[in-house]
Amino acid sequence: PSNHSQTDGLLGLERGNCRAKGGSTGFKMAILGAAGGIGQPLAMLMKMNPLVSVLHLYDVVNTPGVTADISHMDTGAVVRGFLGQQQLEEALIGMDLVIIPAGVPRKPGMTRDDLFNINAGIVKTLCEGIAKCCPKAIVNLISNPVNSTVPIAAEVFKKAGTFDPKRLLGVTMLDVVRANTFVAEVLGLEPREVDVPVVGGHAGVTILPLLSQVKPPCSFTQKEIDYLTDRIQNGGTEVVEAKAGAGSATLSMAYAAVKFADACLRGLRGDAGIVECAYVASHVTELPFFASKVRLGRSGVEEIQPLGPLNEYERVGLEKAKKELAASIQKGISFFNK
Ligand code: NAD
Ligand code: LMR
Repeated sequence: PSNHSQTDGLLGLERGNCRAKGGSTGFKMAILGAAGGIGQPLAMLMKMNPLVSVLHLYDVVNTPGVTADISHMDTGAVVRGFLGQQQLEEALIGMDLVIIPAGVPRKPGMTRDDLFNINAGIVKTLCEGIAKCCPKAIVNLISNPVNSTVPIAAEVFKKAGTFDPKRLLGVTMLDVVRANTFVAEVLGLEPREVDVPVVGGHAGVTILPLLSQVKPPCSFTQKEIDYLTDRIQNGGTEVVEAKAGAGSATLSMAYAAVKFADACLRGLRGDAGIVECAYVASHVTELPFFASKVRLGRSGVEEIQPLGPLNEYERVGLEKAKKELAASIQKGISFFNK
């Protein structure tokens, strides 16, 4: 098509041949919603990732400009832009990884669930494209409400006969990134040295930080536990309010999405011992979807790790989380089957 920006280079069939093919190493990935607040910095950071050989940028607006801009970065990945529904399939063919940050963000006073009516339909359409064009791709779903959009995606894939629970991951990495930051602040540690498991889901009380399992091992006062739990559960709202109507977290989210996508790509490459938290089809609780630590490998989620020992505070939090999660999951499934 003439209206997508193709940046393989004018000399692509001559000296640039090797690069134009995307090289024989590296993965092919697409970002759906690439011109948005998350999509743009995410595209920039993925263009810097040496594991990526081909980067497809899809949106319903503005991809020619974003693609031209990103394509001038002097890193290896070949960047191609795709604009509008009629180019969705072309954007998806052959992809190993698809990241979805498409959809509307919150404004102050809204819950993530208030985004359901618009974003559910967007996610459904995009996942139908994935089922058709790259059914084996790993899908990283960012669009809110994640607690419901992941079940919607699963229903789309089930209907198409392509559902592989190992390959569909709701991105909860921002909760872990925030938890690491806030816990490090309280403990006076370097955030990169801190690892806080965050389980459950990605909204309010469904975000359950397991402060009893923080690495390095440490202890907190009850006051610190109350403060940290509340701040981690409401980190998204903190940003929404600070942005005062201009959207929600985009930069920290792009950072978290890249951290997570990089882990997925290293898993696909065959690296050992890659463990991250994600919201996936799960048997860890009685719910069909739950976020917990998962081990990533060549086929996506290769192992879902148990929650580990919880203290009384966390057990109470888990019951609250499960109650809300059950309703959000059901809402996603019902949307698809209505
Ligand atoms: P944004 O409005 O800045 O960008 C969204 C982009 O999606 C826009 O460019 C828009 O054109 C595009 N889009 C809309 N409909 C589309 C379609 N049918 N196909 C392709 N693209 C489409 O919003 P944002 O700040 O980037 O946030 C995007 C989503 O991510 C929101 O739903 C937000 O709530 C969610 N989010 C999730 C997390 C998380 O931790 N999982 C964190 C932050 C934001
Ligand atoms: C976040 O946690 O920042 C995102 O889910 C966006 C939001 O609406 O809070």
